[in-house]
Amino acid sequence: MEVYMIQSLETHLFFARIMKEHSLFLEASFPAKETRWIQRAKFFREEWEAFLADVVRASDGNVRREVLDSGEVVTPFTMFAERKTVQYTGIPINSDITLEEQRLKGLSQSGRHCELLRLIRGLNRRALRLLGGLIRLKEEILAAMVSCQLYTTNYPLLIQHITREAKLYQSFLMHLERTGSLCSRDMQELEVFWNQIMMEHALFIRGLLDPTEEGLIETADAFSREYRALLEAARAAEGRSLAELTARTKEETERYRDFKAAGAQGINECEIRSIILPLLADHVLREANHYLRILER
Ligand SMILES: [Fe+2]
Ligand SMILES: [Fe+2]
Repeated sequence: MEVYMIQSLETHLFFARIMKEHSLFLEASFPAKETRWIQRAKFFREEWEAFLADVVRASDGNVRREVLDSGEVVTPFTMFAERKTVQYTGIPINSDITLEEQRLKGLSQSGRHCELLRLIRGLNRRALRLLGGLIRLKEEILAAMVSCQLYTTNYPLLIQHITREAKLYQSFLMHLERTGSLCSRDMQELEVFWNQIMMEHALFIRGLLDPTEEGLIETADAFSREYRALLEAARAAEGRSLAELTARTKEETERYRDFKAAGAQGINECEIRSIILPLLADHVLREANHYLRILER
């Protein structure tokens, strides 16, 4: 039960913020006339924000220090990136949550009792309900875009990408509810998943940079090629070769994390020309930090 509670909260701390931000990226991407689509995205942004606030409240003293320190919950850039994103889009963000996340304490001995277990069961059910709705919305947006019924400033591949992330979160929660833990997750499957995600981030970054940012575009292109190779290697790997590949992937992802951190900082400080929202730059950095923690395990 202890494992179930800790792993549930850690999963939400990372993924619920990711879902809240996906909802914001969707909401910000529609032309002003698309009021129905905007309303639907706004609904999920608000629901996930309220959900994340409850998760953070339940997490104090109940998640591992290594998760809090990994940079997957918040980074040094998150707070400012939120402020800039509010300034650009006019979409409100409750940064009190971010402040509370920065102050979260790691596991303590006491306090995980029956009441917390009930609370966490409720959170998991609530997240699964929200995920069903958000996945449907993402799929409907994609269908409308690729049939040329709807214009948005997001790439169709970005919608597919964030749908896959939502489905991964959903699969973890279903696994937790079924077995009580995430301990039996298949490392090869995870590497295939995240190598593709990392590759696509590089493709998005290169496509959202200003055409004059030639150096950064070249670096992003190189990362996309390297992750494509790692993705293919992960698909083919087995046994011992997976351990070697994991070590190689970890090195690559450390370099990538540094590139993304420099990008998040450069975008926050107005030193990079692009159409990347500051919160998107921070978002992809957190996803790399999350992947690094998985690779280090
Ligand atoms: Fe994401
Ligand atoms: Fe992503």
